[in-house]
Amino acid sequence: MSTMIQHDYRSVYHFSPREKWMNDPNGMVFFQGEYHLFYQHHPSGMKWGPMHWGHAVSKDLVAWEELPIALAPDELGMIFSGSAVVDWHDTTGFFGGEPGLVAIFTHHLEREGQAALQTQSLAYSKDAGRTWSKYAGNPVLAHPSFVDFRDPKVFWDAEKERWVMIVACGQTVCLYHSPDLKSWTFASEFGEGIGFHGGVWECPDLFPLPVDGDASRQKWVMLVSIGDSPDYPEGSRTQYFTGEFDGETFVPDAHSRTVRWLDYGRDNYAGVSWSDVPAEDGRRLFIGWMSNWKYANLTPTEGFRGAMTVPRELSLRTLADGSTALAQQPVQELAAARVPLVTLKDATIAEAQQALAGLALESYELRAEAAPGSSYAFRVRAGGGEETIVGVDASLGEAYVDRSNSGLSGFHEQFGGRHAAKLEAGRDAGPSHDLTILVDRASVEVFANDGQAVLTDLIYPNADAAGLSVAGDEGLVLASLAIYAIRQPAGGSV
Ligand code: FRU
Repeated sequence: MSTMIQHDYRSVYHFSPREKWMNDPNGMVFFQGEYHLFYQHHPSGMKWGPMHWGHAVSKDLVAWEELPIALAPDELGMIFSGSAVVDWHDTTGFFGGEPGLVAIFTHHLEREGQAALQTQSLAYSKDAGRTWSKYAGNPVLAHPSFVDFRDPKVFWDAEKERWVMIVACGQTVCLYHSPDLKSWTFASEFGEGIGFHGGVWECPDLFPLPVDGDASRQKWVMLVSIGDSPDYPEGSRTQYFTGEFDGETFVPDAHSRTVRWLDYGRDNYAGVSWSDVPAEDGRRLFIGWMSNWKYANLTPTEGFRGAMTVPRELSLRTLADGSTALAQQPVQELAAARVPLVTLKDATIAEAQQALAGLALESYELRAEAAPGSSYAFRVRAGGGEETIVGVDASLGEAYVDRSNSGLSGFHEQFGGRHAAKLEAGRDAGPSHDLTILVDRASVEVFANDGQAVLTDLIYPNADAAGLSVAGDEGLVLASLAIYAIRQPAGGSV
């Protein structure tokens, strides 16, 4: 094996900016056959700095085309995170009766000798997001006392025929409503005395989902990202609540007293959801920023810094204890980029190992199924003394990623380590011991137990750490094992 050190951490099938810094995804919206991804961007620096909205579009959620910057700082401040909507009925009056795109974002103004000012503002586009005008009446919403008042997520309340905004307010979230996106009425505040408060509350989201795929049973899901704090090795991460929402107030389910995380890896932050069709039965999609404020400014990429998770589809499932939990799966569109390399059924570990032994792969998808109660693990991006271990441990009842020895990690003392997600029993059956692993040049995303247990972790292996192996319980048979290379999407800067 070559001992040459080579690093190319540009993802093959995850979006990253052509150059310089990126953090949160913003303004995810589907309009006229295109998905729009905006993102927190510092176009002239490799670290966080004056924030702009970068912009990319995709027709299939796999190939992304980077477009010119959508929003740049102005006299009201930098352009922080926010959302975008299709104003189908021209409630704003910006579009002469036609549908158009409106971005709702935070202006962050640094002020000499006092705290920064955060207010909510609008911009609109009459040409499918190619060019943007800021609304002359900005800002549209300020708060007399909150210093942290940011990251508005706006959606249409079809029942009450008005817009709803959920916005982060320091250690809580606030809900407002509006007929036209311009004038906002306070409705309620949520979060005091519930959930995790070991960091600032940021990037909230609120959306309905059917429970167990049954459209007649619906619950609301609230996502709240929690900023980094030196007190917690996990750094920044995203919690969620399930409950009811009547257009004014969110009432959490009783089980929401137990803190639940969207992802049990370290690198899925500030994620947001969106829906790909105007109808309410559209898929609920999600994308997150694959990093962590603990070390986001230090990761060892060159020329660019930051990547997104793959787009995922969200669902809700009833667990054995009667509570409702989120599940995630990579969007089905990713399957179109697959090139099958290994397809095995009922394979012993020795047979599986034989099929994997000759492979040298940086970017791929691995799917494995084993009988409930099985323990097994894959070593991915392995070679030259490096490996990332991804497995299911039946005795501990968890899926895990161990990146202690995954490659470069010296940029932060808390980067290495093992991360685990509990496998929860479903209403009618114990946890299943399947694993889907998405491996790319600088990341692993793990979906276990039908997407209930999810871990997203950055890794920085040497390019020739491309080996793959499997180990498991004595006598274990993998009901199925598939490996797919993921093709670099054509025509897009991913
Ligand atoms: C979350 C966050 C947001 C803010 C943005 C600034 O990562 O801190 O709260 O709007 O990043 O870039």
